[in-house]
Amino acid sequence: MDNNLGSESKTFQASLNRSKELEKDIDKNPSKYRVLTGDRPTGSLHIGHLFGSLQNRVRFQNIGVKTFVVIADYQVLTDRDSASDISKNVKELVIDYLSTGIDPAKTCIFPHSHIPELNQLLVPFLFLVSKSELDRNPTVKEEIAAAGLSNINAGMYVYPVHQAADILSVRGNLVPVGKDQLPHLELCRTIARRFNQRFGNGKEVFKEPEALLSNSPNILGLDGTQKMSKSRNNAIFLSATSDETARLIKKAKTDSIKTIYYDPQNRPEVSNLLHLISLVTKEDPFAIAEHVGDGGSSKLKQLLTESLNDCLKPIRQRRQELLDDEQYIRDVLSSGIQKARAEAAITLLKVRQAMNMEF
Ligand code: TRP
Repeated sequence: MDNNLGSESKTFQASLNRSKELEKDIDKNPSKYRVLTGDRPTGSLHIGHLFGSLQNRVRFQNIGVKTFVVIADYQVLTDRDSASDISKNVKELVIDYLSTGIDPAKTCIFPHSHIPELNQLLVPFLFLVSKSELDRNPTVKEEIAAAGLSNINAGMYVYPVHQAADILSVRGNLVPVGKDQLPHLELCRTIARRFNQRFGNGKEVFKEPEALLSNSPNILGLDGTQKMSKSRNNAIFLSATSDETARLIKKAKTDSIKTIYYDPQNRPEVSNLLHLISLVTKEDPFAIAEHVGDGGSSKLKQLLTESLNDCLKPIRQRRQELLDDEQYIRDVLSSGIQKARAEAAITLLKVRQAMNMEF
């Protein structure tokens, strides 16, 4: 069966297997790892982010893994020209992080625009990558197509290299990512390896970071067919009120079969709602389906609304408090910036020493 897989899915399968090993080791040796993840500040986060990545970050920070979260504000400009929403969106993102349990005393949150040492790493890294490698990046190609860009700026091609600077500047060795980010991580590993070969003089300046893929199924939007995302208009935002949440779930797509059962292949919409309930309650989706049974989609939706609103209640409360405390958000950012700069300065010094550029 494996022989029938294309090379892309083989890489994916290999990453998935490696990720399972890593997960076991993280629990045993949390101090070995430095996790770096990040988001582009393009708007508020939704429950797909909560279950897909935010809860994972909280778990890492709480078992003592050194955790960094980069707010990739420069990266916003890859597919849009205006920076006018960036400041508002960065603050929103920090509020989303803090309200879902990311603790700034344990996790370093920083916007990469404020880390000169990180941005400076981009320059030496650019000499380690060929133009055709950048042209070939499948995720970049998809993003160009999705944004329908006719005029593509160089930042769009180069941002995966910048992302390598995000990771390597803080010497991250573990990067929790979705499948679409695997090509970027591969490039980051290539950059680390080539840097060592070209400038390391036998020494390993950079360790190659590893991808950590989550093995939970994709969270679909309320249309049940596509990934939950802001641009597809099928998301429940963390900032939504409980009434809005109820309304959105009421409108969620289901199908014409009355009895509820879990069958992601043939009943993607209903199964996604069951999956969402199971993410909240940690119950098995088959068991939830059995419980709903002939209650049909209205009972299913009622159950999702209740459990989700319960789960989001403390998050919403915390959100509200944070919205009123702008100074605190600024303090979180400036302390994150300070810590990230200190890390990146150590890295930049090593890079300059390796490159004979220490004067
Ligand atoms: N490109 C990532 C996204 O769109 C965000 C990101 C920026 C990132 N820098 C990173 C992710 C470094 C992991 C590591 O989701």
